[in-house]
This record gives sequence, structure tokens and C-alpha cells, in this order.
Amino acid sequence: MLHRQLDELWEAEAAELLARVPLLQALRSAHLGALAAAAMPKQVAAGEPIVHAGRPAPGLVVLRRGRASGAGGLEFGPGDCLEEMAALGPRMAQDTVVAVEPTEYLVLPAREVHDAIRRDPELGIALLKDVATRAPTGDDDLSEQLLRYAADVRDSFRESERRQEALRRSVLGAVRGLVHLAETKHPWSRGHASRAAHLARALATKLGWPEDDVNNAALGGLLHDVGYVVVESAVLRKEGPLDETEQRQVRSHPTIGARIIEHIDFLKPVVPFVLCHHERYDGHGYPQGLAGKAIPREGRLMAAVELYETLCMSQLGPAAELDPRQIGRLLRAEIGTRLDRDIAGALAAMVESGWARGG
Ligand SMILES: [Fe+2]
Ligand SMILES: [Fe+2]
Repeated sequence: MLHRQLDELWEAEAAELLARVPLLQALRSAHLGALAAAAMPKQVAAGEPIVHAGRPAPGLVVLRRGRASGAGGLEFGPGDCLEEMAALGPRMAQDTVVAVEPTEYLVLPAREVHDAIRRDPELGIALLKDVATRAPTGDDDLSEQLLRYAADVRDSFRESERRQEALRRSVLGAVRGLVHLAETKHPWSRGHASRAAHLARALATKLGWPEDDVNNAALGGLLHDVGYVVVESAVLRKEGPLDETEQRQVRSHPTIGARIIEHIDFLKPVVPFVLCHHERYDGHGYPQGLAGKAIPREGRLMAAVELYETLCMSQLGPAAELDPRQIGRLLRAEIGTRLDRDIAGALAAMVESGWARGG
């Protein structure tokens, strides 16, 4: 736990430092974080070299603390970079740079930078521009050619992003169609998926989840019951207790839902929301009977969302007349049985402070 916290602190500091590097300013913050996580921290004592002329440069070097000096009296301090070109691939250092006091720095090896370029081509474009400004003086043709190349790379990247987005929208449209179909089988569940999406997004935000996870939580809310699409309407509409076969059908909806989306690349992170939303903290849930933190946090979040929705949807129970404080109390009463403490606490606090159900 402590290690994780230290790692997170270190990554946040490294990301802050890298954000000051002009070459890396083109990176989106999530990608900068990934690059920071891959950066290697190093330190040297006063008088020791950071890079050695004629020896392989370790990669892009960013000074974190201390001071260093290079050929011709060049001075480097925190936030300054050395060997930008080594971010593109192996090369020999041109000048020796020596620490003038104990100095800490980060190294981004070319292989990490290449991974970052694959995730975010804007970095590749920034590097090309940087190389263009370093072309030998007077070689305007080369600079111009490189800048044109950078523009081409950006255009084709944007085009491929546009196509991906269009594909994403149509796949999501098809899955939403299934959700809609599933909802029409359940007389009382109209609007449940979009309300669950709204609540899952708000709750994940309240819990401080990263932006990508918050977006996946919203998709999880939207899709968690998609598996009902293969359960017979008669079973879903049946009043009174279900027999064993009917129960088995109903209980298959998380697994079926997960199967529907697991082969769609961008929905893979949504699978645990769908698969585990009926797991219970005490291990008496389904489909896997996982308990406690063995339930992925996506499932623990969605279980709280589902219970809140059930409390509000129940036509027979007293929920219709419940006020926010009573709902908060009911949610807290399920800590350790159905729900995770932190997640239930956060949801109860949201409800009590007047969060609007919407939908
Ligand atoms: Fe469900
Ligand atoms: Fe549900």
C-alpha cells in the first residue's frame, strides 16, 4: 500500500517535471503520466558525468534537482533537457555534461518514447519539428521537408482517429440497441440503463477515479444489464417467485452481457462492470460468488449503483416514499453484506447531499 502511494507520488512529480519539457508539451496528460511511469530516476554526485562524449547516450535526460555543466560553459538546472535526439534512437553523446553538485535526473530511453509515440503520435510530430529546427543551418529544404512530413503524419493520424470514432459510435449504437431491446422486456426497467450510467459516472468521479475509468464506469452503467436480451420476457415479467430454471436464466445475464461485449476492443475494460455487478461483498452473489476485494472494484461500484436503482425502482417496497437520508441509511446498512464500505459510503454521502437521480 505504502509502495503504491510512493509510486503514485513519484509518478505525479515525474509527470509534472516532464510537462515542463517543451518537446513533451504536445502529449496529452494521460499519456504524459504513462511516460512518467516509465521514466528511470538516476542520481550522481558532484563531479560525476551524466553523459559522456562519444559514449551511448542513455536517452532523453531531464534534470530534476541539482546543477550540471557541459562544453562551452553551458549550464543546466531542474527542468532542462539533454540529449533530446537520443529520444529518437541510439546515438552517441556529443558533449560531456558533468554534475556540479549532487544531481538527480530522469532518463527516458528511446524505446519508452517510441511506445509513447504509438499511443500519441503528437509526440512524434513534436519530435520531427524539433529535428527540423536542428537541421544544419542553411539546409532549409531539409527543414521544410521534415515539417511537411510532420503535417502529413498529423493529417493521417487525425483521419484514422475520425474513422475509429465513427466505428466506435456505430458499434456502441448497435450495443445500445440491444440494451434498449432488453429494457423493453422488463416492464419496470425503462431508463434504468441511462440512469445507471449517470450514477456510475458521478460515483466514479466522487471516488476520484481517473478520467478513462470514469468513462468506462458510465459505459458499464449503460451496458450492465445487456445480457437480459436473451432472457425470456415471460420470466422477466413473471410475478411471484421464479422456479429454479427461471432463476438460472435470470442469473445468467451478467455472464451473457460480458460475452456480448468482451470481443469488442474498446469495451474490454467495461467487462468487469457487467460481469460482476451482482457479486456481493459477503460472497453470496453471482455469477462467481467472489467476496470482498476479490470482486473487481468495477463490480463493487456497479453493485452499489444497482442496489440504489433497485431501492428507487421497487414498486412494492417502501422505497417510493424514502427520503435521501433513509436511502443513505439503507445503503450503509449493506456495508459488508452486499456492498464495499468506501463505495457505499461515497454513494450514501452523494445521495444525502442531494444528488439528483436524473434519467
Ligand atoms: Fe443486473
Ligand atoms: Fe441493473
